Amino acid sequence: MDVHVPGDKSITHRALILAALATGRSRVRRPLVGADTRSTAGVLRALGAGVGELGEETVIEGAGLHGLRAADGVLDCGNSGTTARLLMGVLAGFPFADTLTGDASLRSRPMRRVTEPLSRMGATFEELGEPDRLPIRMRGGALRPLSHVSPQASAQVKSALLLAGLTGGVEVTVREPLPSRDHTERMLSRLGVALRREQHADGGASVTLSPSPQLPAFDIEVPGDASSAAFLIAHALLAAPGPVRVRGVGLNPTRAGFLDVVRRMGGRIALENVRESCGEPIGDIIAERSALRGTIIGPAEIPSLVDEVPVLAVLAARAEGTTVVEGAAELRVKESDRIHALVSNLSRIGASVEERPDGLVVHGSSQPLAGTIRTEGDHRIAMAFGVLGAAAGTHIEIDERDVVDVSFPGFWEVLGQVAENSAP
Ligand code: S3P
Repeated sequence: MDVHVPGDKSITHRALILAALATGRSRVRRPLVGADTRSTAGVLRALGAGVGELGEETVIEGAGLHGLRAADGVLDCGNSGTTARLLMGVLAGFPFADTLTGDASLRSRPMRRVTEPLSRMGATFEELGEPDRLPIRMRGGALRPLSHVSPQASAQVKSALLLAGLTGGVEVTVREPLPSRDHTERMLSRLGVALRREQHADGGASVTLSPSPQLPAFDIEVPGDASSAAFLIAHALLAAPGPVRVRGVGLNPTRAGFLDVVRRMGGRIALENVRESCGEPIGDIIAERSALRGTIIGPAEIPSLVDEVPVLAVLAARAEGTTVVEGAAELRVKESDRIHALVSNLSRIGASVEERPDGLVVHGSSQPLAGTIRTEGDHRIAMAFGVLGAAAGTHIEIDERDVVDVSFPGFWEVLGQVAENSAP
């Protein structure tokens, strides 16, 4: 059976932001129309950019690199860490003050990883609630160049600082311990912004942005989201009666860790129609039901599958043998503490699992698994256990099914169709 997934969340955020900063009219085709990208669109509108309604083709009248204005009210980033962090970077280059906030989940996530380097560039930040947390009132302005060594491999941190260099008109270098997703770099290069990228012998990576006087308007077709596709692929591996083909999915190597790991676990995966679209590799992913075995997922591969750990953990619960996830402490500061959410929910339904400070250990089995999942408001926890619940020998309820709207509206319908219709 053939399916499509919604547009890539990371690429949609970046396309909207760069289109809002461009000179002229841009078109973003097949964006993610979900709660997170609505947050970015709403914040950009509040700052004066002409962002049309998100739909099959979204038209954006750019305000220009220096054309945003202070919002009338507080900027609500909802559940979206990417919106909050990337927008703080953008706003660092503008000489006015704004206040950013978000929902309870986002207000519990660390922000100093972005505000500390932006302060060194010259922006100022006032934490209005708890230390290191939103709501934050910030003021941008004349910025200094920056060379930053990030302790985390974080595309949100890297992108925020590159965007500050762009709006502030200064050189910015970011070094990270392992390469994080590079959609920002690909998009900026495509728009003619001078970037220098370096891979280091210790596995780290650096990027340097040189200032640009303006950004041209552009057209982009957003690839299908690799992280959303992972749920349907996992379903196919566990339970689908016939092969499932997910069409037009982003295959960016900085996001490809999930496919590598499931292949290592014995998953039957094939790629077809691999091509390039708007600076990103894309293709169809075909997955078939497979006998899976446990594996070790180590620190070096975490950045390339950081959002796929929940679905890998549920696959591990149905694999033969033990799966270990190490070096994944960043998962504790995602939309929920995902290590804790995975461990507590897996043990609640009867799986054998151990919690570690930076990961988890899952002992696979084919025994019956049953119970109600507490999603903690986290879309990826809901979808991961939704996939497990569609497999044989499970009876799983999800407490908040609607949370999937953040990244994959229509997920339950698509999962249901695939479960019913994949041709044997
Ligand atoms: C994202 C980067 C990742 C990822 C998030 C989206 C992005 O976060 O978990 O869902 O679009 O840059 P970090 O960069 O904080 O690891």
